Amino acid sequence: MQLWQGRFQKALDPKTNDFNSSIRFDSRMFREDIDGSIAHATMLCAQGIISAEDLALITDGLKAICAEIESGKLEIDPNAEDIHTFVEGELTARVGAAGKRLHTARSRNDQVALDIRLYLRKACNELYAQLTELVSVLCKKAEQYADAVMPGYTHLQRAQPITFGHHLLAYAEMLLRDKERLQDAVKRMNVCPLGACALAGTTYNTDREMTARDLGFSGAMQNSLDAVSDRDFCMELASMLSILMVHLSRFSEEIVLWCSWEFKFIELDDAFSTGSSIMPQKKNPDITELIRGKSGRVFGDLMTLLTMMKGLPLAYNKDMQEDKEAIFDAFDTVKMCLTAFIPMLDTMTALPENMRKAAAGGFINATDCADYLVGKGLPFRDAYKATGELVALCIKKGLTLETLPLCEYQNICDLFDEGVYEAINLDKCVKDRTSLGGPAPENVRAQVKRVQGLNQNK
Ligand code: ARG
Repeated sequence: MQLWQGRFQKALDPKTNDFNSSIRFDSRMFREDIDGSIAHATMLCAQGIISAEDLALITDGLKAICAEIESGKLEIDPNAEDIHTFVEGELTARVGAAGKRLHTARSRNDQVALDIRLYLRKACNELYAQLTELVSVLCKKAEQYADAVMPGYTHLQRAQPITFGHHLLAYAEMLLRDKERLQDAVKRMNVCPLGACALAGTTYNTDREMTARDLGFSGAMQNSLDAVSDRDFCMELASMLSILMVHLSRFSEEIVLWCSWEFKFIELDDAFSTGSSIMPQKKNPDITELIRGKSGRVFGDLMTLLTMMKGLPLAYNKDMQEDKEAIFDAFDTVKMCLTAFIPMLDTMTALPENMRKAAAGGFINATDCADYLVGKGLPFRDAYKATGELVALCIKKGLTLETLPLCEYQNICDLFDEGVYEAINLDKCVKDRTSLGGPAPENVRAQVKRVQGLNQNK
């Protein structure tokens, strides 16, 4: 049954109906659609626009429809134009004239804008909980590996000594920002468009503040055109999700590297690794590769939304029906990624001996050697040059700064004495990096506490 009876002589062409319909992807909002309709009918009754008898019929009818869809007793008609049409049609079939009064002082334009906001509000709560869980896993691991010395990299070249705990906490910081961005976007999303009607409000004496309050919004949207035209919240959330996927993708890339025999800094649990169909020795980090790959989908969803909106005149245009597939896909994808990523990280084992070995091999204490000379009064640039010569000498002789004899040091600069070996000791180099935000184990332990505190803030 089509909603636009009266004006038309014919039903919509069946194939065109499939094209026009959004039921395939909007039926997941049936609960929100029903919640919104109950709130709307309650307000209509409170304002004397419909009778208490009609309200009771509408409310009971909608609740029954909701329960039957949930139990599988009522199947959503795949030929319906959208979930709003289906629910209203089903209600009218059950309760007659009362069902036909539900749509007084409402349009599908404000209805769909409402349903998406309600649906995404739940999705945002779930996402927030997943991010909290991920940050707390990171904190646990960071605490466990607060002392594990590893090379820090720039240009993927060994650079300076850090700790594995410190490295993990860098991701915790990014995820805390993601949580903040999410909360911030929700603040702007959680305003109610219901009652804006098609675009121009209504002449009925409606109470938009009442429906907004009943549905848990912070208030009602203040411009009827904006209320039905606005999809900023979809674009904001897709942006936030894209940035989150950048973070997960970078983390995934590092895990791929760390799992390789070239690094072997970590071992993933068998339950979160895959094998090869031909190479019996293989253990692959497929989950992280998939996350890296799926980041593209989410960026694509963001582009879909931006492009869809950019040339639209106010107010509602059918183009906007495309919003749901994009934003739902972005949320579904991120949720799936996190559902696999969190337990994978939780069961991951680090191999600090291998990190330590890599740290010993890359001259990552060269800056500390130069700093030692600075401590003896040499200007930093001269100390840098002398240390560079020492590194070149070590490479030529196949030695490290730790194994180079003192006389060789002194040949290059007579300020060196026995104390240099203590100064370039990796544990000491890390332990002394206590500057704010630095990788020293004591910093890591303090930062874990700070991050845990922020992570629990609602
Ligand atoms: N199915 C539509 C959507 O998802 C419903 C909105 C109203 N449609 C309309 N032609 N005014 O956007």
